[in-house]
Amino acid sequence: MLPYALVTGASAGLGTLFAEALAAEGRPLVIVARRRDRLDAIAADLRSRFGTQVLPIALDLAAADAPEMLFAQLEQQGIVIDTLINNAGFGARGAFAELDLTMQSEMVDLNCRTLMALCHRALPAMIAQKNGAILNLASVAGFLPGPYMSTYYATKAFVLSLSQALHEEVKDRGVRVSALCPGPTDTEFAAVAGLTNSRLFQMNVSTAKDVVRDGMAALRDNKAVAVAGLSNKLMVAGLRFIPRGLARGMAARLQKGRG
Ligand SMILES: NC(=O)c1ccc[n+]([C@@H]2O[C@H](COP(=O)([O-])OP(=O)(O)OC[C@H]3O[C@@H](n4cnc5c(N)ncnc54)[C@H](OP(=O)(O)O)[C@@H]3O)[C@@H](O)[C@H]2O)c1
Repeated sequence: MLPYALVTGASAGLGTLFAEALAAEGRPLVIVARRRDRLDAIAADLRSRFGTQVLPIALDLAAADAPEMLFAQLEQQGIVIDTLINNAGFGARGAFAELDLTMQSEMVDLNCRTLMALCHRALPAMIAQKNGAILNLASVAGFLPGPYMSTYYATKAFVLSLSQALHEEVKDRGVRVSALCPGPTDTEFAAVAGLTNSRLFQMNVSTAKDVVRDGMAALRDNKAVAVAGLSNKLMVAGLRFIPRGLARGMAARLQKGRG
């Protein structure tokens, strides 16, 4: 059996397009998210357009046992993963003390704990085969603290740090690990996070297609960190020359914004 690519958060936005890009390369796929109806429709569409195997799995990846359950199901079916797109994630806008703690804890679980656990479950087989690739969805938010989205920015700093460390650990063992850092991108993310009327999403918004193109290139070229889009690259480069306090204040104004 050919090794599969696993895409989390494939029912919308970047995840759907990552699944499409991999299917277009003829890769058999496992796609995971909570919304079963959407996954089934996407799987049927990819099978008919690209003639590849697509296994949809409806699962809440924020649940404590989700990574174990997912890999147990894959092992049962004899599926080996050689490409992991750790994409599922969400954010929430608001003052830290006023945002619901359970929701913020779920964000840490999904964006950090599950992402870390899926890397841990996938890496041994990749290392044994001396072949494999992991793309972790970080964000430009990983490069600075983000008042009024404090927990989200902190989760992405975790993803950025973990991914760079893993990149270094496995680069001589035939395995690629990259962190993709998009800026504001036209998906369902802004609506879920309550950001549609923020200044952040009224500025330079990338298309999901461009971000996925940059992500696939990062994976291919084994870039430890890939910032998507020129304006985001300039912003991240500029952060080196701006005092930390000024950057924090700018992020606060962008997130607090109007409304
Ligand atoms: N769009 C941006 O501006 C932007 C910028 C930087 C980084 N990112 C990152 O890019 C990644 C993809 O986001 P997107 O922009 O494509 O957002 P999106 O359109 O909202 O898609 C998020 C995906 O994650 C899935 N998901 C959310 N909670 C889940 C859970 N508990 N269990 C399983 N799946 C879950 C959603 O599916 P279900 O609802 O069906 O579960 C959906 O498929 C995220 O990690 C995000 O932080 C996005």
